[in-house]
Amino acid sequence: MITKAPQHCCRLFLPRTRLVTTSSISPCRAALQAGRTTLSTRNNLTAAPAARRSLSTATDALLSPRPPALAAPAFRAANLSVPPRPALALARGLHSSRPTLLDASKSTMTQYKEKACLIGSGNWGSAIAKIVGRNVTEHDGFDREVKMWVFEEMINGEKLTEIINTKHENVKYLPNIKLPPNVKAVPDVVETCHDATVLIFVVPHQFVKGICQKLVGRIRPDARAISLIKGVDVSAMGLTLVSDLIKQNLNVDVSVLMGANIANEVAAENFCETTIGYSDPDNAEVLKKLFHTPYFRVSTVPDVAGVEICGALKNIVALGAGFVDGLRYGDNTKAAIIRLGLLEMKKFAKMFYSGVRDETFLESCGVADLITTCSGGRNRRVAEAMVTTGKPLDVLEKEMLNGQKLQGTLTAKEVYEILSRQNLTHEFPLFTVIYRISFESLPASHIVRDL
Ligand SMILES: NC(=O)c1ccc[n+]([C@@H]2O[C@H](COP(=O)([O-])OP(=O)(O)OC[C@H]3O[C@@H](n4cnc5c(N)ncnc54)[C@H](O)[C@@H]3O)[C@@H](O)[C@H]2O)c1
Repeated sequence: MITKAPQHCCRLFLPRTRLVTTSSISPCRAALQAGRTTLSTRNNLTAAPAARRSLSTATDALLSPRPPALAAPAFRAANLSVPPRPALALARGLHSSRPTLLDASKSTMTQYKEKACLIGSGNWGSAIAKIVGRNVTEHDGFDREVKMWVFEEMINGEKLTEIINTKHENVKYLPNIKLPPNVKAVPDVVETCHDATVLIFVVPHQFVKGICQKLVGRIRPDARAISLIKGVDVSAMGLTLVSDLIKQNLNVDVSVLMGANIANEVAAENFCETTIGYSDPDNAEVLKKLFHTPYFRVSTVPDVAGVEICGALKNIVALGAGFVDGLRYGDNTKAAIIRLGLLEMKKFAKMFYSGVRDETFLESCGVADLITTCSGGRNRRVAEAMVTTGKPLDVLEKEMLNGQKLQGTLTAKEVYEILSRQNLTHEFPLFTVIYRISFESLPASHIVRDL
């Protein structure tokens, strides 16, 4: 009932383990954490019975006849403005907003509401703030305020947070688009997140680790997260999905949202689709309410790793599409790069992660995002400019992107490191040649010669 087969286990590396210190937390919460931790341990199927025992202990405790009394210490300790989610749902590891057996406790407590916050306020973060800010006012069960963490910058002598909170516009990263007034820019990431039940991560992936470190122990125990971040993290330990990085640091369930979603077009309310990859269906339900609009159509799939890997790897293929555009090779060649890129994305995902579904590659996060990114995205544009101007990608990133980050180069480098460490570069000729053109001064024409 509680467990699901571990979904996105990277086969290359050690199973993830995590120490839980029980002295500082209630027995109930400790049992829950221990259960969740064991359950989330990758490839460690033998851990399931122990995990079930832990969760069942927690469930029993939480189902005792005094639910408010049990819930209250955690609530007070965390200094929360709204009570924790219904205890039965929490005990099951289901972050449900639906009525539960313990909902009677609401008569003595404030009505439970989901509270969303955004960690990030760049081009995509601001476009998403517009959607989330509006949706929380249109659905019951959400707190109306949406705090958005802004990496503080001075714009013409004024703080970006102050500009956003007075003009309701992110003049640097999403100019000429009004944000709902209930979106509040906050320069402190802990203040942004401490009382949220839904943490929306939307920063360039190189900043995630540092942000998570600041948030450890500073968020609600019943929070869940969703990552809109495209990229993977590579360290000496190997490759880690951004969703896993967040999960490992914060011990929360993490879904992902990826799709053919160029921020400026979404902000202009041009119709598009997106995909949420989830492992907990109850979380998917809440998240769909938060993101779905008539012009931003959300579909949900139970495949976190598949959705996330599509989002990360398509930026590498987009660099290839840009090289082809710079070389003026035409649409047939670009279509070939897109098709071969999709095949390598799928092969990589299936080689390194279990549970990845074929159908995921036909969702918005797969083929649609790949087509968009290879037509209009920043990675394609900068790669094209590299061929036509002869300037290196990092120089063009600064010249062309006004502070935005080029994700494709970093991901190309990280994926290449993994492939070469595993002697697998020959199995991924497109990813490999894109890396060599980007970082080893290989002439761009090798994009077709080396395939
Ligand atoms: N822009 C899009 O069209 C789009 C669409 C889908 C997904 N995404 C993904 O969303 C994520 C965020 O992209 P974006 O477009 O919102 O960002 P962006 O590239 O527009 O902006 C960069 C952001 O990083 C912040 N920043 C700069 N230095 C920082 C630091 N040292 N620490 C923390 N933050 C710092 C800036 O304040 C800014 O908010 C990326 O993973 C991207 O791939 C982007």
